[in-house]
Amino acid sequence: MREKLKLIKKNAEEKIAAIGSLDEVNDLRVKTLGRKGEITQLLRGLKDLNAEERSEIGKIANEFKVHLEQMINQKTEEIKHCELDSRLAREKIDVTLPGLPPQRGGKHPLTQITEEIRDIFTGLGFSVAEGPEIERDYYNFEALNIPRDHPARDMQDSFYISEDLLLRTHTSPVQVRTMEKTAPQIPVKIIVPGKVYRRDDDATHSPMFQQVEGLVIDERITFAHLKGTLMLFAQKIFGEDVRVRYRPSFFPFTEPSAEMDISCVMCKGKGCRVCSHTGWLEILGAGMVNPRVLEFGGYDPEKVTGFAFGMGVERIAMLKYGINDLRLFFDNDKRFLNQF
Ligand code: PHE
Repeated sequence: MREKLKLIKKNAEEKIAAIGSLDEVNDLRVKTLGRKGEITQLLRGLKDLNAEERSEIGKIANEFKVHLEQMINQKTEEIKHCELDSRLAREKIDVTLPGLPPQRGGKHPLTQITEEIRDIFTGLGFSVAEGPEIERDYYNFEALNIPRDHPARDMQDSFYISEDLLLRTHTSPVQVRTMEKTAPQIPVKIIVPGKVYRRDDDATHSPMFQQVEGLVIDERITFAHLKGTLMLFAQKIFGEDVRVRYRPSFFPFTEPSAEMDISCVMCKGKGCRVCSHTGWLEILGAGMVNPRVLEFGGYDPEKVTGFAFGMGVERIAMLKYGINDLRLFFDNDKRFLNQF
């Protein structure tokens, strides 16, 4: 038995030396020292020995047990230590590596254009006004001299929330809203940037788009003021050499009404695909404020006159940057947006 014990001890020592993981250590502990382990099994034979031998073998067995127990505990500590070391090595952070640069956001091209337009007009003494996107039928149509069932409503079909509430189809309702607040004070010089909505959807029309409205009211305002103001605007946006022309048009809220064209930014007026070979591009609607609208707003058309204009921001951005599809502005594709 003594020999067998020694053999168990030797084997166990060799195994402990070779072990590499905590699982293996536990395994070995159970197999050698456990209740059903090799040593316990062997000691079952003690009962066949005489008292003297029994106590001697028992003593040796206990010593071996304590010894192996110690070795196993030591091994366990070693392995734990090793695992910690390798984990620390694996998870080491090199603080000297260059960091990941945060992605910088930028202003949307339409915001940039709106700000450019705003700066031009505030430079001329205009202030910025705003109005609601959910608008009353009264301000969007009635007070702009577009009565119910007037065919002019067809051009601006809207999204209705109720009989009286709709998504505004243009920024012109802010003309009357402003007049109601300022009348009878003069002068009025405002621009109104904002989103508008129409039932359109194709490469050049979006159900939501942006406009900048302009309104000036004072004594003796004439069409010459309108032309001078918009000429300067066109030059600032499109360059000093741009030319403009006015074509007669119709808006119920201006009289007379006109549309302003600029010489084509692509071909400089020679004629190309962008301008449909006319040499001209339409960029805004304008006119002298209809006396009825002045009255709706609380001004006396005998005392004051005014001019108004409205332009589409997307259209101006498309012409200025040479963009051929309106939808690019709304797709949120960073490859497109990063270029501005
Ligand atoms: N509100 C008109 C439109 O959206 C534009 C316009 C504004 C025309 C002001 C004349 C005066 O088409």
